[in-house]
Amino acid sequence: MNFSLSSKAIASTKADSLVIGLPEKGTWPASTTQADEALDGLIKTLQKNGDISGKNATTRTVPLSNQPWSRVVVVGTGNDSDRTQATYRKALIAMVGALKDGPSKSALITLADTAVTGTDAVSSEEARLNLIGRTLEEQLYTFNDYKSDKPAARKLNKLVVTASGSGKGLKDAFNLGLATGRGMNFTRDLGNTPPNICHPEWLAQQAKRMAKENDCIKTEVLDEKQMEKMGMNTILAVGKGSTQPPRLIVMEYRGGNPKDKPYVLVGKGITFDTGGISLKPGAGMDEMKYDMGGSASVFGTMQVLAETQPKINVVAVIAAAENMPDGGACRPGDIVTTLSGQTVEILNTDAEGRLVLCDALTYVKKYNPEAVIDMATLTGACIVALGHHATGLLANNDELANELLAAGERSDDRAWRLPLWDDYQSQLDSNFADMQNIGDRSAGTITAACFLSRFAKEYRWAHLDIAGTAWHSGKAKGASGRPVPLLVNYLMSHAGK
Ligand code: BES
Ligand code: MN
Ligand code: ZN
Repeated sequence: MNFSLSSKAIASTKADSLVIGLPEKGTWPASTTQADEALDGLIKTLQKNGDISGKNATTRTVPLSNQPWSRVVVVGTGNDSDRTQATYRKALIAMVGALKDGPSKSALITLADTAVTGTDAVSSEEARLNLIGRTLEEQLYTFNDYKSDKPAARKLNKLVVTASGSGKGLKDAFNLGLATGRGMNFTRDLGNTPPNICHPEWLAQQAKRMAKENDCIKTEVLDEKQMEKMGMNTILAVGKGSTQPPRLIVMEYRGGNPKDKPYVLVGKGITFDTGGISLKPGAGMDEMKYDMGGSASVFGTMQVLAETQPKINVVAVIAAAENMPDGGACRPGDIVTTLSGQTVEILNTDAEGRLVLCDALTYVKKYNPEAVIDMATLTGACIVALGHHATGLLANNDELANELLAAGERSDDRAWRLPLWDDYQSQLDSNFADMQNIGDRSAGTITAACFLSRFAKEYRWAHLDIAGTAWHSGKAKGASGRPVPLLVNYLMSHAGK
């Protein structure tokens, strides 16, 4: 797909489809007025006659003749008074839906001058161009690598987005949006890849490929021997039941001042979670191929950095293992000494995410991090608490937590904070070791984060539980690419100018 920005007059720009935004109530954006004039009042007539309402996220395609465009796609953008970031994005999604499998080869998209209410950060043209870029890439995604009959190629191959000027700020915002969408799509590719292919060593190869293709990325992979030497016994314990050995994958992007402390991203990379000896029920178990979603979002974010080259230092650490039951697998009751020296009684082998993450959280201390953010499909309880809309956020630092929440709002990739009070910690008391790896049945997301917090005491740390947001189930089954937008938005807000 060819994407570009244009600040030329709409009436003099040819395209197969002209896409305009139509408010249900409120002031028309300038582009819609211009289009209506070029079309001799057609849009006004259609709305007056009730053929199109402008209701948010509805679309109507009207054929044209003797115009620079073969058709006009009218996208409802709802009411000016309550058009939030999320509402606007729904309209954008509907727009791509109307275009992607249609007859047009090219489209001229004029939605960037539709006003969005909300905080200052999202009401700028830059923010809208960013969102348009990302939504275009994201909504055009397909994953057909394993189908024998590939669907016919799309006709659509050229998308031109109109902007008020051709300044660097507008271009950068649009390009960052496109890069974010591509980063999400990379995350989705990794997640959707079947677990017989996507195993820990395969993930390590992805990191090596990224480092080879991008001079700005360096990578290092620790195998089980190196981890044994260091004492990363909890990652090893989780990987023991699998014929696919675990890996600790490190990627470094150093775009900032060498003296600037790095932001560290840690990803849970369980390439398949059977539960181990504490075996999961069979129904829907295939979706546990997405249990590497945290690590996939770290990969996607690193790709966005490689593409856009911001002035910031970021280190990514992925704890990759496959949680399988076999004769070598760890058992309920096993006690393991973590890299930190603290001992853990593994009471449930299905609470494996926190086990691989705890050694990674100890390992990253050596980077003297500015902040550490871990991403993990960690608890089913998070889906019970927040459903599939919000990512769970827990943190040992209020400022970091608030910045991540704000980045989620700005990017329409929202998180919601849960408490990390000491009151919950006693659920992890063990009779035989320093702690056990599960609590009682209550507050499962919080006790999982409590466990992690014991390994993250020495730096500012936040944990994102993406169990409900990393993928979609049912008919639309597939990885979502979240929380790449949140992470990119957060990191960019800390990049030097
Ligand atoms: N990967 C799962 C969490 C999960 C389950 C995410 C379903 C998304 C959908 C994790 O490893 C797990 O099994 N957690 C257990 C923890 C429990 C044993 C304390 C859970 O949530 O049941
Ligand atoms: Mn599990
Ligand atoms: Zn898991």
